[in-house]
Amino acid sequence: MKAPEFQLIGAHAVARVLHGRHEDVMELVAQTYRLHGDGRTTNPDSYFLRFPERPDARIIALPARIADEDEVAGIKWIASFPGNHEHGGLPRASAVVILNDMATGFPLACIEGSAISANRTAASAALAARLLHSDTAPDAVAVIGSGPIARQVVEYLRQSGWRPGRFRVHDLVPARAEAFRDELGALGVNAEAVTTSAEDAVRGAGLVVLATTAAEPWLADPGLLTPDQTVLNVSLRDLAVPVILAAQNVLDDVEHCMKANTSPHLAEQATGGRDFVAGTVSDLIEGRIAPDPTRPRIFSPFGLGVLDLALARFIHHEAGRLGLAVAADDFFGLGTGASAP
Ligand SMILES: NC(=O)c1ccc[n+]([C@@H]2O[C@H](COP(=O)([O-])OP(=O)(O)OC[C@H]3O[C@@H](n4cnc5c(N)ncnc54)[C@H](O)[C@@H]3O)[C@@H](O)[C@H]2O)c1
Repeated sequence: MKAPEFQLIGAHAVARVLHGRHEDVMELVAQTYRLHGDGRTTNPDSYFLRFPERPDARIIALPARIADEDEVAGIKWIASFPGNHEHGGLPRASAVVILNDMATGFPLACIEGSAISANRTAASAALAARLLHSDTAPDAVAVIGSGPIARQVVEYLRQSGWRPGRFRVHDLVPARAEAFRDELGALGVNAEAVTTSAEDAVRGAGLVVLATTAAEPWLADPGLLTPDQTVLNVSLRDLAVPVILAAQNVLDDVEHCMKANTSPHLAEQATGGRDFVAGTVSDLIEGRIAPDPTRPRIFSPFGLGVLDLALARFIHHEAGRLGLAVAADDFFGLGTGASAP
């Protein structure tokens, strides 16, 4: 038996593979949620490596396995260093995904992971928006936080047919919201930077995207949201317990979400139970639950390693097919690399 060729797939190759593939990525994410709901995945708890002297920084390991006909295992290793914004304008998040061959266990590829992470996150948010909210042309969509995740979610919403009257963008740092507004404007998208308050951006917006880096709840008024609103709670920690309890709550995975002081986790601690959870996104996909029009709906995705793995596997196949992967010849020193005689 030969060790598989080990390949490097960098950011440019990933971008070329994913260009214009939004619907395919959303379908891949939906299919992976189905597999996860059917118990055909392994998705252990994420491991958070933290640093006492740098409490805002972390590196998270997300190992996973997908046990379908093209079985694969792997891990995403993703760093979050918020201070990067101040140090030369580097992105907060950086990542790699390692894919492992299930015949030999050998690593197959190392793939740039921040685009994988942003794309699977945005695709899952847009998928949940499609499942929870039928009006894709509300007067406004509010976007709180103006980093790469917010940008990618807006891109997936637009590519999946959302045409709001305007995007209302808000950020703790007004210049970031203004830069995002200008980018959307340059694309011909009607956007406004709301610099007064997040509440002003949220009020009356059909869809609300939360993509901040808040560590503790700060949107506390349960009266802020109305039954005609759906919230994509991507950043997980902005909403106070009463806001969660007044809504229909859909999670990606109940066990995973009840960790790391997410808003659903705080609601579980406050109520001593999980009765406030309506179900998961795979329940929505399979029709086991339906959107509740009498309450605001909140989708809270903890972010599953199986989604990173599914997308990394897709990119690995496509990059190979398009000749975009770089072989690390004989990486494991077994003489079985691509250049071996
Ligand atoms: N659930 C998931 O699967 C998943 C996956 C990837 C990222 N995320 C989360 O998405 C969030 C955004 O990621 P990013 O890479 O765009 O981060 P980023 O740091 O680049 O951008 C976040 C922005 O939010 C702003 N912000 C922080 N607190 C705010 C507040 N209280 N009100 C308004 N704006 C505020 C910051 O100024 C910053 O511009 C992070 O919290 C990240 O952990 C979630």
